[in-house]
Amino acid sequence: MPHHLETTIMCTISAKSDGKHFFTLVFPLALIAAVARRGVIGRNNTLLWQLPEDLRRFKALTTGHAVIMGRKTWESLPQALPQRQNIVITRNSDYRATGAEIARSLKEAIRKVTMPEPAFCIGGGEIYQQALEYAAVLYLTEIDANFDGDAFFPDFDKSLWRLIANEPRFSEKDGFSYAFNTYVRQSLLESARQRS
Ligand SMILES: NC(=O)c1ccc[n+]([C@@H]2O[C@H](COP(=O)([O-])OP(=O)(O)OC[C@H]3O[C@@H](n4cnc5c(N)ncnc54)[C@H](OP(=O)(O)O)[C@@H]3O)[C@@H](O)[C@H]2O)c1
Repeated sequence: MPHHLETTIMCTISAKSDGKHFFTLVFPLALIAAVARRGVIGRNNTLLWQLPEDLRRFKALTTGHAVIMGRKTWESLPQALPQRQNIVITRNSDYRATGAEIARSLKEAIRKVTMPEPAFCIGGGEIYQQALEYAAVLYLTEIDANFDGDAFFPDFDKSLWRLIANEPRFSEKDGFSYAFNTYVRQSLLESARQRS
């Protein structure tokens, strides 16, 4: 995705705080996920495939940015992701994570972001589900294969999104096709166009 487009797309999060007043956060949020057929993203808190090119792309896109994740995804990682601001969402107020900051909600996680935009939501299923409505961009590695999973990317209405990049790939080792697909929220593209 062209960098200038990323920076012109702003995502607005409005929320009620303490049940009393409203505040608005304006921050570009991107979701990045590798998704097999039926939305499967993992099983037993691990990934179900090994796609080195996908990992390289993930690293290239997210390095220098904040990565926001659920506590279970954090625990599936060997360590904090280097050169990124790691933010872990948990309801457990005693939770500690070496090399990461803790947030009690997605909203709090976004408010903690200090690294340059966009912030990346990197999973897992519970956090994607909550973050989808705020996302400006989806970087999806869509895998054309069946896996038996227990964690899922949420269903999303493709009519609300514009596919702006499609890079098909084939894994010889696994024998399946996959594609790096970038979707931008239609409404944000339209308002960015009106502003320019
Ligand atoms: N394919 C991919 O691209 C990809 C990417 C990432 C992860 N994954 C896979 O996804 C799976 C993990 O996903 P998951 O859905 O099981 O877990 P998850 O989303 O990583 O984490 C869930 C945890 O986040 C915390 N949480 C969720 N909503 C919250 C809220 N509103 N406020 C505060 N805390 C909240 C809770 O932590 P507490 O229980 O501590 O309160 C909850 O148990 C694994 O299999 C992983 O490998 C796949």
